[in-house]
Order: sequence, then C-alpha cells, then structure tokens
Amino acid sequence: MKAIGDTIQLGIVGLGWPGHRHAEAIAATPGARLVACADLGEQRREEFARVHRPDKVYVEYDELLADPDVDAVIVGLPNYLHFPATMSALAAGKHVLCEKPPTLHAADMRKVRARAKSDRLVYSFGRQARFDGRTVVARRLIESGRLGNIYFARALFVRSRGIPVGIGGWFLDKSKAGGGALIDLGVHAIDTAWYLMGCPKAETVSGTVFQHFGSLVPERMHYDVEDSAYGQIRFEGGAALHFEVSWAANLSDDIPSNAQGKREAHNTIVYGDAATIRLSPFGLFENTGDTVRDTRLEGAVGSNFAGQMANFVDAIRTGQDPVNSVDQAVDLMDMLEAVYRSSKSGREVVL
Ligand SMILES: NC(=O)c1ccc[n+]([C@@H]2O[C@H](COP(=O)([O-])OP(=O)(O)OC[C@H]3O[C@@H](n4cnc5c(N)ncnc54)[C@H](O)[C@@H]3O)[C@@H](O)[C@H]2O)c1
Repeated sequence: MKAIGDTIQLGIVGLGWPGHRHAEAIAATPGARLVACADLGEQRREEFARVHRPDKVYVEYDELLADPDVDAVIVGLPNYLHFPATMSALAAGKHVLCEKPPTLHAADMRKVRARAKSDRLVYSFGRQARFDGRTVVARRLIESGRLGNIYFARALFVRSRGIPVGIGGWFLDKSKAGGGALIDLGVHAIDTAWYLMGCPKAETVSGTVFQHFGSLVPERMHYDVEDSAYGQIRFEGGAALHFEVSWAANLSDDIPSNAQGKREAHNTIVYGDAATIRLSPFGLFENTGDTVRDTRLEGAVGSNFAGQMANFVDAIRTGQDPVNSVDQAVDLMDMLEAVYRSSKSGREVVL
C-alpha cells in the first residue's frame, strides 16, 4: 500500500453521468483532489476535462491505474469492466470505489474482497442513496429502536417505460451488464431496504425475472436481460424483504408520472413491531395500541454522492470500513445472483 499524503489524490475511470457526480463529490470533500480521469470517448474526455479540470487525462483505464500520483480510483465503467478494473486497481495498490453493481458474479466479488483485505486497501461500492438525508434519518431512528423489531421491508423501484435503450448498448446485454432491471434498479431498491434493516444475513431467496417488453427495444439491439423482477428474501432471524422492480411494466395509475411523462416510483418501507417507516413521502407510523399514529418526517431528498465520497476518503485515512463495505458487496451480489438462480430453477435458493 502506497503511503498517503495530506491530500488523497483520486482518479476517475469512466466519464458518464456517475463519473461527473463523483468529480463534484471529490470537489466537495476536504482533503481530496481529482488528479486524473480516463475514458475511451474523446467527447466524454473533453467535456469532463472542461468542467472538472483534472491534472491528467487518459484514454484507457489501465493508463490511469499506472499513474503513481493516484491513491484511489473511482470505477464508473460499464458493469463487465468493474471486476477487471477493480482487481487491476488493487494490484496497483490503489483504493477503490466501484459503481454498482459491484461485479457481474458473486464469485468475482469474493476475489475482490480477498485481495482488498490481504493488501489492506479500502474497497467500497457505489450506493449513494445510503447517504441521502431521508435514509440517514431513517437509519438513525431504526438504530435508536423506534421501530422495535424489524420483520419486513418492501423495496420498490418501478418504471412503466424506462428500458435504457439510449445509453451504450451494453446495458441490454446480459454478458456485459450481468442482468437488466434487477441489476440496474433492483440493486438500489434491495440495498436501501436491506441497509435500513441492518444488513441481516440472507438465508433464502425466491425470485422471478421477466422479459415482456422486447418490442420497445430497437431490433438492431441485442436484448437478453429482464425488464422486471419480483421476489422475496428471507433473513436470519426470520425477517423478510419483498422487492418489485421494472424497466417496463403496465403500471397502474396510483404510480405517479416522472418528468418524461412515464410512470415511475421508488420507495422503501420498513415494518417493525413498534413502528413502520416509509421513505417517500417520508413518514413514521407508530403503534399506539388500538390505532396507528402518523408523523411526517423531515429529510433532504436527493442523491448524496458527496456524503459517500467523504466516507470513502475517511475510510482511507482511518482504515475503518466504509459504510458501503466490501463484506456487504459480497452479500449483495449473493442475493442478486440468487434471484437469477431462483428464477431459472423455479425454486427457492438456499444461501
Ligand atoms: N450510482 C448511480 O446512481 C449510477 C447511475 C448510472 C450508472 N451507474 C453505473 O455507472 C457505470 C457506468 O454507467 P454509465 O451510464 O456512465 O455508462 P456509459 O456506458 O454511459 O459510460 C461508461 C464509460 O466507460 C468508458 N469506457 C469503456 N471502456 C473503457 C476503457 N477500457 N477505458 C476507459 N474508459 C472506458 C466508455 O467510453 C463510457 O464513456 C455502470 O456500472 C452503471 O451501473 C450508477
């Protein structure tokens, strides 16, 4: 492991939407500096360099990983490059924050964990929503015991018409993306609910994935991933999490429309024997005996990439696990992979 100076020097590989958000987060984090970036796309490099002004601009991610000035790397590459880029970065002695999903396969994530732990490097995965105002408030309330025993959670991330046909064709290709709606949106939905539940150990997974909206995908595009996924995860101690995710589904009119006029909802509801908490609208529903008392809660809405970056940089400095820890990345990949296995076999999967 390279000795860290006063300032932690970061590089970003992959300069799409998340690459920009991470650059803004670095700029907002005291003691962190963006020194380098890399992307194969000339336009992407130029636009990124114009806005964020890194010292060095590379093309291939490997070039950035060879730069001794870089202490830590943010991986914002397509999913199929998460594992090779993360392993190369760790081999080069860099700490890593990798976008979601952590890897395509749970077995790969175990290799990442083994390497990061043996080399005492920080690994974290991109789940900025854990740092959102509402999630932070909800987690605090749950940790304080206000919900009592948590026994169930509902994780919802549904779009009526949102198959990502516009961005890099790899999103729709199973060999490159690892999956469709589940890997893309389900990872957010499941992780937020699981995190609020306290990251219990999954014991069994029963899920089904569907593809019914191929007609919305241009014929020239390869489309072999699911456009929706539904299922349930049971945890040690008996709690369960139910998830519902879709890129495309004929959603009913209780789901509101987004700015593009397409139905979309994203929500997490966690049930405890003393109270239930819902992120959107943000509220607490407490057991008062005969009835339930409703309380509106306050918490900032929106993705907190800056909070996530501050936590990553702090973990590098202190050697403490980041909030989005390497062990949790393994558990998350185990759950996602088990949904696909369960769907394929038509059976519940025991982890
Ligand atoms: N956290 C979030 O909310 C969030 C949102 C969107 C995307 N993501 C994740 O971020 C990742 C990237 O998504 P995206 O939408 O920006 O994808 P994208 O395809 O638009 O961007 C990926 C970039 O990687 C570059 N690239 C590919 N191979 C490279 C190489 N060998 N060297 C250097 N650059 C290379 C491409 O040129 C491209 O610009 C995905 O894993 C996705 O799941 C996360």
